[in-house]
Amino acid sequence: MQIRARAPGKAILFGEHSVVYGKPAIAVAINRFAQVEVGEGTDPETHVDVAPLGIEGYLDTEEETYRCHANQLETGIFKYVLKALTTIEKETDHTTGLNVTVDIDIPIASGLGSSAAITVASLAAFARYHQIEFEKEEIAQLAHRVELDVQGAASPIDTTLSTYGGAIYLSKDAEEVIQLPVDYNLPLVIGHTPREGNTAKLVKSVRIKKEKYPSIIDPVLKSMEELAAEARKTLLAKDEKRLGELMNINHGLLDALGVNTPELSRMVYLAREKGALGAKITGAGGGGSIIAYCPGKVDEVLHELEKIEQAFPAQISREGVKTK
Ligand code: PMV
Repeated sequence: MQIRARAPGKAILFGEHSVVYGKPAIAVAINRFAQVEVGEGTDPETHVDVAPLGIEGYLDTEEETYRCHANQLETGIFKYVLKALTTIEKETDHTTGLNVTVDIDIPIASGLGSSAAITVASLAAFARYHQIEFEKEEIAQLAHRVELDVQGAASPIDTTLSTYGGAIYLSKDAEEVIQLPVDYNLPLVIGHTPREGNTAKLVKSVRIKKEKYPSIIDPVLKSMEELAAEARKTLLAKDEKRLGELMNINHGLLDALGVNTPELSRMVYLAREKGALGAKITGAGGGGSIIAYCPGKVDEVLHELEKIEQAFPAQISREGVKTK
């Protein structure tokens, strides 16, 4: 029996970093996916092959350990798959290892939700393999717990979007995840560079800045809160020009927080020069990704960004996790 599940990645439109201080955020699932395929294995251990990255590893769910040949960034993938597998196997008496193949076209560790997509697709595939029925709500909750266990802290943004797809507004203090009815296409171009620091380091650097200059940084975070509220109305009203302007303002504020890099900045300004209505860092910054909002200009912007960094077109994925 072969079971396959796939789940989308995400891009934050508004609210990265300010969300850490209880401010609202807006994010969308993007049409880039992690796919996890599961079949019966032959060993007691589970074999995991991450074909696109040319890496493989072995999981021991009894001991909750893994071994792999991969660099530090890539190693993370095995941690999420292992945690997802042990979570599901707790519900079963299964002991034989599995054969797992992970396929992913989301750049990893770039602020595009690759770990959540892998986690959600893994949970869905393992559950279906073991004939456990889960509602999406349960998958989203379990996936968030896996992320918390593996990385220590995580907002529910990534796992929610990988599970349900679409666009969401995360309200103040993450009290509520509100699905936004954005029923039109949102033509984006995403550019990405290798990230130097991880999310935790960047979040910490913002905290240090806030502690050092509270009277300056607190109003920046307050502005980000206003931006997310304004952007929510603007998205629903489909005011393209205004949405782009709000993204540009948000980029300036992220720069003020110190999470910009020369590479990200170059991409942002180049995208705007080539016709993007708005362009900003997406995710934690410090390398990682930018999003450019490009109605009618996707090809022009993509072409230019590809000259200097890696880039791809993206749109909202209305599809959440799916198994077959
Ligand atoms: O891990 P990333 O790059 O998707 O960033 C997450 C967004 C932050 O606000 C910086 C951190 C967080 O946990 O919300």
